[in-house]
Amino acid sequence: MKEFFKEIIWLKEVTSTQDYIKKLALEGAESGTIAVAAVQTVARGRFEKSWRAPLGGLYFSFLLRPDKVEASYLGWLPLVWGLAASKFVEKFSGVEAKLKWPNDVYVNDKKLAGILCESQFLGDKLDFVVSGMGINIDADADSLPENAVNLRHLIDDEIDIKAFLNLFLPYIYHYYDEYMRHGSKYIKNEISKIDYLAKKKVIVNSQGEILLGIADGVDDNGRLILDSPEVGRLSFSSAEISLAV
Ligand code: BTN
Repeated sequence: MKEFFKEIIWLKEVTSTQDYIKKLALEGAESGTIAVAAVQTVARGRFEKSWRAPLGGLYFSFLLRPDKVEASYLGWLPLVWGLAASKFVEKFSGVEAKLKWPNDVYVNDKKLAGILCESQFLGDKLDFVVSGMGINIDADADSLPENAVNLRHLIDDEIDIKAFLNLFLPYIYHYYDEYMRHGSKYIKNEISKIDYLAKKKVIVNSQGEILLGIADGVDDNGRLILDSPEVGRLSFSSAEISLAV
């Protein structure tokens, strides 16, 4: 763990911890450098959507410079972090947390956390990855989207964000280490137990193409499997998923 995470930089306010870490990475920062911000003014989620990051949440990004990874590494990474976050939230709070493919942690059908992985290549070699996570801890509910939930409101107890992060980082390390040592099989199996979308009727938006079907776990590359009555069984590496009502 000491070898994996290095310096933690605590910031009062930043545009986005993703940009902050990316800048450090380009300046040669070490793998494992972490930036945590109390507030982000221009935080983002997947597909360049904005992510609300008011005071009271945990927002951090960290740098990885992976060496010799399998081709599906970038597909698995958000799932590894999501698994770690779901497991830790459950341990910390006692509430059941589920992982919504590929990057959200859900509790009671509400979004508690989001994950974003952004990568940089040098030619065709993966140079570094910046992984970011936002967890709604105790933010003003009016500043959050309607489907969001604060952890504080689930456990009815105050949460020290710094202490929370210090307990959480070993979980992140643990699941990453499992993945690096044993490959994706273990991760896939663990995910299947906390899969928010499992066997649910979903709407998949893949670059503007809309498909309806039943979510059926992930394939060996971490891609979402959809059973679609229109086109059969398909896998998606990147798509927006919503529940069909
Ligand atoms: C999503 O839900 O699509 C992902 C949200 C990721 C938000 C985190 S907060 C820390 C880091 N900085 C950002 O600008 N985004 C990520």
